[in-house]
Amino acid sequence: MSRTAFLSTGFHVPARLVTNDDLAQLMDTSDEWIVQRSGIKTRYWVDTGETGVGLAREASQKALAKAGLSASDIDCIIYCTCTPDHFEPGNGVFLQRELGLTDIPAVDVRNQCSGFIYGLSIADAWIRTGQYQNILLVGAEVHSRGLDKTTRGRDTAVLFGDGAGAAVLGPIDDDGRGVLSTHIFADGRHAEKLWVDGPGLAHDPYVSVEMLEQGLHRAVMDGRDVFKFASLKMPESVAIALAANRLTPADVKLLVPHQANLRIIEMVQKAAGLRDDQVYNNIQKYGNTTAASIPIALDEALAAGRLKQGDILVLTAFGSGFTWGSAAIRW
Ligand code: UT7
Repeated sequence: MSRTAFLSTGFHVPARLVTNDDLAQLMDTSDEWIVQRSGIKTRYWVDTGETGVGLAREASQKALAKAGLSASDIDCIIYCTCTPDHFEPGNGVFLQRELGLTDIPAVDVRNQCSGFIYGLSIADAWIRTGQYQNILLVGAEVHSRGLDKTTRGRDTAVLFGDGAGAAVLGPIDDDGRGVLSTHIFADGRHAEKLWVDGPGLAHDPYVSVEMLEQGLHRAVMDGRDVFKFASLKMPESVAIALAANRLTPADVKLLVPHQANLRIIEMVQKAAGLRDDQVYNNIQKYGNTTAASIPIALDEALAAGRLKQGDILVLTAFGSGFTWGSAAIRW
């Protein structure tokens, strides 16, 4: 049976750079607070006319070019986002259309910060069984338009950024390389700890002026609980990935964690028993781009020469749901 390999990666962020000082013009916050609590210095936000699918198209085209493939070589799209352009249909079909493709499946994955690992798990199963050959796996988000950019929303507004990351996945003969395992988890008891309540069909009417006045369309979060669970579940999932493949922390060349908060990443690194040089961070530049954060960080790490053929790469993520997971890959 074949294994799944990353044939290439690519990413794209909008041109508009937003600094912490820019945010302090909009709400009661400061560069010092944001850096100290989260490590974030800047993030990129879309401008008028830009969309999540547009960011995804740019990232996908970069990944396809690096793989030496054209869009017509792709036989399945998996699009991970928690910030879709529309309620329905999902972003996958819009990306398919942008890439000039028809008649291939376009799957939407709604697992927030863990979306890319959930998507990888699905893609890996399909490639290993031979159902699809070349899968375009995308994580793309536009948070900025949904954020409450007043002091009321400052605990979330300062954390999130826009961006897209893509990977082209395909089969390689099993010589020990490729995706070794994926491990995905969820615990819906915590669903309301980071969520957007409405508009939604659980409400009747599903959208109303009152709902908007109450701010139900804004992401709200119990930051402390999210922090606590993320610091616990991410290293736990790394340990599961290592144990499943009889690996130890010393075998890990690089951990690319979901970029939620630098303090969370530092706790994950410590709990997982990894050195600084074994962990890749770029949250300082991009903020939390949820499903896009791992492919963006992975593409940057590759460009910086942080992974060579045969190295062990581990991915881990945690987010709303709660959902979390990990993957082990021999590059
Ligand atoms: O992928 C998962 C996505 N979510 C996360 O990763 C979030 C995880 N949680 C966190 O990162 C942290 O909980 C935060 C960074 C959101 C908050 O840090 P904290 O150390 O837990 O702060 P806190 O919520 O306990 O708030 C401390 C103070 C409060 O003021 P008082 O009540 O002590 O007077 C907040 O009102 O900081 C205040 N505060 C702010 N001050 C300035 C909250 N947000 C801000 C802000 N600027 N942006």
